[in-house]
Amino acid sequence: MDAFIIEGGNPLQGEVAISGAKNAVLGIIPAAVLCACSSKIDNVPDIKDVNKMIVILEKLGAEIYREKDTLIINTEKPISYDVSDYEEETGQMRASYYLLGALLGRYRKAIVPLPGGCNIGDRPIDQHIKGFQALGATVVIEHGQVKMEAPELRGAHIFLDVVSVGATINIMLAAVRADGKTIIENAAKEPHIVDVANFLNLMGANIKGAGTDVIKIVGVEEMHGCEYSVIPDQITTGTYMMAAAATEGDILIKNVIPKHMEAITAKLSEMGVIVREEDDGIRVIGKHPLKAVNVKTMPYPGFPTDLQQPMAVLMTIAQGTSTITESIFESRFKYVDELRRMGANISINSRTASITGVKSLSATKIRTTDLRAGAAMVIAGLIADGETKITEIVHIDRGYENLQENLRNLGAVIRRVSEKDPACL
Ligand code: EPU
Repeated sequence: MDAFIIEGGNPLQGEVAISGAKNAVLGIIPAAVLCACSSKIDNVPDIKDVNKMIVILEKLGAEIYREKDTLIINTEKPISYDVSDYEEETGQMRASYYLLGALLGRYRKAIVPLPGGCNIGDRPIDQHIKGFQALGATVVIEHGQVKMEAPELRGAHIFLDVVSVGATINIMLAAVRADGKTIIENAAKEPHIVDVANFLNLMGANIKGAGTDVIKIVGVEEMHGCEYSVIPDQITTGTYMMAAAATEGDILIKNVIPKHMEAITAKLSEMGVIVREEDDGIRVIGKHPLKAVNVKTMPYPGFPTDLQQPMAVLMTIAQGTSTITESIFESRFKYVDELRRMGANISINSRTASITGVKSLSATKIRTTDLRAGAAMVIAGLIADGETKITEIVHIDRGYENLQENLRNLGAVIRRVSEKDPACL
């Protein structure tokens, strides 16, 4: 497994362009199989989860061509609705659950292994299943596989018990091909929900209200291929914003949608960071000392759980005591031990971490426990005094395109080594 070696202490400076949104494109790629057609998708990030999703669709029979960040997905020839043989691939990511909605929509049948993904807490899919059942599917879970069949798929009124990104997208994927009208209440409102809905509408679907908590879908008989460009990644943007703030840097982040960043901009401003919307991006200027703040993660438009860990790193060097409450995933504090090894002063009480700022973090060997914890470890390495080695960076590769090259272009001293590399023995 590869590791990063980072020499801390260099303020980030310059420009970085943000790639397409992981959690949007992972819904859009399965959406493309909803009809016998060909779609062209631009701004597709080159990350492990996307590449795995492509491999799964190819194994099911889709023809996929990739050139740089453009993907052409051709499903004119029928593909299989049975994903059961590809458990190894589906088990390595969360988004493989979108094959359930997409295949049910197209074939009225789907067999898909239960998904994998980051180990950040209890991640049931009961709301997805409740939605599919309401649309008329019988659902059986056996031997690790979700087996669904719906002689008829018909629109339904579905009230989600919890706000779920995955369930909202999955129900949309099946409901666009159902007979009649579906209403999803208490729907998630994240930018990627809107992006998947926009893609589906371009394919001929009839979805209204995406981005609000009530989504109305009138099923259509026919869909067709389209051309689409994925929105920029909100979480990657936030990660670079925090890296700039932590290192007292000054960077311009391009290809962003500032509106998606409001919760993050507000908190960083409260900490004393200068965040300016410019013509073609967001400029972030870190000003130390950072002030302590309190953060609670919430569904969009609240502060995203996916930026909880990078935000905690900023708090480790802020003046005073900050708190960060995780209200979405109860086990998303696994990285805290790693920050403690660097000298951070953090105590956890249930879902709240109290973080009292220290003068600086000290470099050591740390490990990555999940994707966003990995981003946090990188930021910690950027500000630590000395050389930090971050192991298990395979998690980071799942969701960040060219992280090391981008950081190097911004002046960071970072290199990737293979664990077998003598340099890190
Ligand atoms: N939940 C249920 N039942 C369900 C579905 C969800 O109880 O059927 C609960 C979960 O346990 C959690 C809450 O609802 O407490 C929210 O979960 P959600 O379904 O929104 O999360 P997800 O679909 O599993 C997606 C992203 C995550 C991101 C969350 C929250 C993808 C592939 N994953 O996960 O992204 O943290 O939404 O925004 O879109 C990441 O990118 O690092 C990542 C983990």
